[in-house]
Amino acid sequence: MITSSITRLTLSAAAAACLAPSSLHAQEQVIPRPAEISIEKEGKALILDPQTEIVVSEDLATSGTNGKQTEPGKEAAYAISYLRQGTGLKLPASVNGLNIQAALKKSEATYAFRDRIIFSVDKRLLQQHGPEAYALQTSFVKINPDKEQFILNVKIASPKAIIPAIQTIAQMLPPAFFDPKADKAKTEWKLADAPFTVTDYPRYAWRSFMLDEARYFYGVDAVKKIIDQMALLKMNVLHWHLSDDGGWRIEIKKYPKLTSIGSKRRDTEIEKWGSGKYSGKPHEGYYTQDQIRDIVAYAAERGITIIPEIDVPGHSAALCASYPELKLTLKQPSEVPATFTQNIALDPTNEKVYEVLSDILDEIITLFPSPIIHLGGDEVRHKDCWQGEPAIEAFMKKKGLKSLNDVQTYFTNRMSQILSRKGRRMMGWNEILGHDIHGDGGGTTTGTLAPNTVINYWYGKREPVIEAAKKGHDIVNSEWQYTYMTKFSKPDLRKSYSFDPALPGLTPEQQKRVLGMACHTWTEWIPDTDELYRQMYPRIIALAETAWTAKERKNYDDFLKRVRNYTRILDAMDVKFDHSKIK
Ligand code: ACM
Repeated sequence: MITSSITRLTLSAAAAACLAPSSLHAQEQVIPRPAEISIEKEGKALILDPQTEIVVSEDLATSGTNGKQTEPGKEAAYAISYLRQGTGLKLPASVNGLNIQAALKKSEATYAFRDRIIFSVDKRLLQQHGPEAYALQTSFVKINPDKEQFILNVKIASPKAIIPAIQTIAQMLPPAFFDPKADKAKTEWKLADAPFTVTDYPRYAWRSFMLDEARYFYGVDAVKKIIDQMALLKMNVLHWHLSDDGGWRIEIKKYPKLTSIGSKRRDTEIEKWGSGKYSGKPHEGYYTQDQIRDIVAYAAERGITIIPEIDVPGHSAALCASYPELKLTLKQPSEVPATFTQNIALDPTNEKVYEVLSDILDEIITLFPSPIIHLGGDEVRHKDCWQGEPAIEAFMKKKGLKSLNDVQTYFTNRMSQILSRKGRRMMGWNEILGHDIHGDGGGTTTGTLAPNTVINYWYGKREPVIEAAKKGHDIVNSEWQYTYMTKFSKPDLRKSYSFDPALPGLTPEQQKRVLGMACHTWTEWIPDTDELYRQMYPRIIALAETAWTAKERKNYDDFLKRVRNYTRILDAMDVKFDHSKIK
């Protein structure tokens, strides 16, 4: 028998805001804020113990040797190991029939008394709310007059939704879940005070965090830890900035000098641009292809796609320093520069440039399965790099190009074609739209950007980006005033939280071109992950909620309470930052 006579209390933002943080129910502490939460006023608590059984429905299982669906599929298997690892509980797991409730009822006699977490697919969620939708629903079953067992039904729209579902569950459990050093055996794994329902789904399908490791290299363990933090915040795209003036960070077998030269610099300017102060220490590092494969798989298991960025034609001093004989650039650095202000761009008139980049991309696409590859395109500094160069002038004449931004559009479209032929799409910063947004002498393009190019909007007026959306370009919105998490970027927590990635003046159909949003760290002055966390937090929490939670469900006061609670999780994960920024 399912107990059902309890009045439901659906919490409004206002009601939730009246509660002190400690009195918030576990469900109300979740970040990003779920779409719907309903908590029964009273009832038994749900506490996981070593015998709590995880049941996976057949439609989430894979075939065993007997042809039957006997093993949890990869998403469900990850959920089981995640819950076991976090709680330290045994949590026996099994696969059961599609009509799981009926199957359980039938086999009740043969089961010992057990609480259960049941993962199953609910197609209605898919129809109503898309592939990442999930619902958590609890009920109690009376075994005999003295005993009840709980069932936590985890319903998912598709296997993809298992990750957000288990992150919500994890956040509802005690923070010891996230602390590898905690005494898990002594922890009471209380999930909730009373029966509840959570129904949840994202506002945007693209929820990205960008990590710049070109300026400073942090290494495999650091990236995995960041991936864990992203997954917990339901972020699903890691935009990995792997090349810039300050370093090249990925092994390319055909071009070994990219790492033997391009991943090293003799010294580093510190504190700020033009400070004249240097660390006095060399800096180096790159990822081998095996390490990249390992990180890509680690991210995929956590529902995160990695989009690599190779930044061209500007920001390419490390590439140019590695292969001067290829005459990749009109201005040639002799080594990876120690300062972060470099005006070096590739030579778009040189066929060898396209050949080398195509070869590099051949290796990149074998490592990263993402359908989209980011090729930068920002801050080419046309005046300094291309203006007045005889090769550029001759090229413009030959091709009938009117402005330096026409030249850049030519370059972008060549790169976009190269990627298309390899079965991938190009993404670039919004400079590739060909407006002189930095006053760099590029003029305005008269060319037409290849239609399937994705625009990463960070800077300048919205109008050209809105026009691009109207023409059918997909957009990822990361307007810097809200989304940059760097030492010198201004947004405080409230400002970051106020970000609305929707672009004005678009029809509902055109608005769908806004795939989602991104937030960025740029690491010029961030030599280690402790400093990185100080820049990321707490802003990333606000931006993750902005990407996931419907606009009308956002509420800053309610958010502040949840962030304060979230710091207990960050403490458990040993992520340190300045708590005074939570205001
Ligand atoms: C950028 O901040 N240069 C994209």
